[in-house]
Amino acid sequence: MKSQLGREVVKKQMPLLPIIKVPDPVLRQKAAPVTEIDAAVRQQLDDMAETMYEAPGIGLAANQVNSLVRLVVMDCAADEEQARLLQMVNPEIITVSEESARLEEGCLSIPGFTAEVDRPAEVTARWLDPQGAQQEAAFSGLEAACIQHEIDHLNGVLFIDHLSRLKRDMIWRKVLKEARSNGD
Ligand code: NI
Repeated sequence: MKSQLGREVVKKQMPLLPIIKVPDPVLRQKAAPVTEIDAAVRQQLDDMAETMYEAPGIGLAANQVNSLVRLVVMDCAADEEQARLLQMVNPEIITVSEESARLEEGCLSIPGFTAEVDRPAEVTARWLDPQGAQQEAAFSGLEAACIQHEIDHLNGVLFIDHLSRLKRDMIWRKVLKEARSNGD
């Protein structure tokens, strides 16, 4: 029903979750598999999606919102494209291509830093959707990098771990310096 102002004033309120930043140890822990997909899990997936869009980001793993369960949301659609939200429970990579690709990556948990990362160019992944149905799909391009990046998070791995030691140490020193100066 419309208000007398002639427009809908109802806005769905979903809480945004705080995004955990390095060097918080939760980003280095392994998330546990979800054993039952209930209303709380679906709510968390919705809250994570809202948080990702607001950031803005193209992927978010549960570790990044201080929750050690295997949940990932992603949407790699370009601005002009229709949203392509994936909400994944217990996602896993089941095949990887021999061919690799190098793409620029950044991370909401390591703000201000990007680097080119080599990963398999194409992957097949399997997961459960919010209704508990098993899904399987092939990913390439940005989506392939994104899903690998997010599943890495569930295993306590960050994109900087894929860089040379020299590069990783350089970024890490700057990250720690910035975290200290922000009083974290
Ligand atoms: Ni990330």
